[in-house]
Amino acid sequence: MNAVAIKKDIYWVGVVDWNIRTFHGHTYTTNRGSTYNAYLIIDDKVTLVDTVLGSFSAELIDRIKSVIPLEKIDYIIANHVETDHSGALPALMKLCPKAKIFGTAKCKEGLWKHYYGDWDFQIVKTGDTLKLGKRTLSFIEAPMIHWPDSMFTYCPEEKLLMPNDAFGQHYATSQRFDDEVDQCALMQEAVKYYANILWPLSSVIAKKIDDILKMNIPISMIAPSHGIIWRNDPMKIVNSYITWAKNTTKTKAVIVYETMWRSTETMARQLAEGLAAGGISDVKIFDIAESDVTAVITELIDAKAVLVGSSTQDNDMLPNIARFMEFLKGLKPKGRVGMAFGSFGWAGGAVKEIEGVLKETGVDVAAPGVSLQYVPDAAGRLACFEAGKNFAEKIK
Ligand code: FEO
Repeated sequence: MNAVAIKKDIYWVGVVDWNIRTFHGHTYTTNRGSTYNAYLIIDDKVTLVDTVLGSFSAELIDRIKSVIPLEKIDYIIANHVETDHSGALPALMKLCPKAKIFGTAKCKEGLWKHYYGDWDFQIVKTGDTLKLGKRTLSFIEAPMIHWPDSMFTYCPEEKLLMPNDAFGQHYATSQRFDDEVDQCALMQEAVKYYANILWPLSSVIAKKIDDILKMNIPISMIAPSHGIIWRNDPMKIVNSYITWAKNTTKTKAVIVYETMWRSTETMARQLAEGLAAGGISDVKIFDIAESDVTAVITELIDAKAVLVGSSTQDNDMLPNIARFMEFLKGLKPKGRVGMAFGSFGWAGGAVKEIEGVLKETGVDVAAPGVSLQYVPDAAGRLACFEAGKNFAEKIK
């Protein structure tokens, strides 16, 4: 296992997890795998920034050993407690027990409650610096990006920002840098990561980016703890985050539904036709029972409208769309318009339930729901078409 030099005497010593297909307890699909990035800085004080998932401890240790013996490590920077970045600490600390760990107060608390390790830990806060020799590290607390303990580490001499989860992607590649990979795939993974993990934290992210830009610190490289390192155009991802964090939307509609006997599906397709006739050219349709929820959420990040449909079962929506709605609620989308639709047999109820959850989510229910009994006839199909066409006006 070899380390990869990212700057002179600074090495990537992380791990590529080619086979991981779900993350965060199966809530996030990682079709392209992931990486856990850790960085080794060789200076008077040898410093490791972050570790990797515990099951990959041996690979991290091997990569470090390809540069320097483990016992030479003086400092370990723990930017974040979550186990994909701290999991190798117990194995590592057995091999370099004299290393001192630096992190936020919440990090100290969190690491203790994960590993109960009797480790030398120094709490740092925003503005604190650590002299390594020729280089300095400067710490920026970043609570809730992604956990309360999170922080960014910056090296001014190298113009290098190591922001842990921020600006990352779940993207396994043999290349390490932004200029080496397919740009389309890179940005697909970056937006998917933002939409599914960071979206509800948008206001915190916008404020943190604003604070950092006001600090006027030069940045030539952003080395996150997942995926590709941004060296060619680090501002590309920063500017994308600014856009996403503002909840910026396009004239785009996403129709998500679950159907029992395809009547609700017929309604979804007619609504889409109506939206197109009303001038909305970007319309996406997903049967949630057949779709990857992570991909649907990604489509929603820049969609002005979300139309949610379900057949009625037991006076409520079907279970897969209910699960999706719960997920959407947690993401706290802002500035969206929505409407509900669905077929029923006798009592109905799904449309009302969907409207209730849309309102709880903060989506403006901007048009009356469309509810049809049994199988849509020509008049029913036309009603859906017209509803879609009228709703287009709410999106423009
Ligand atoms: Fe990649 Fe919040 O851990």
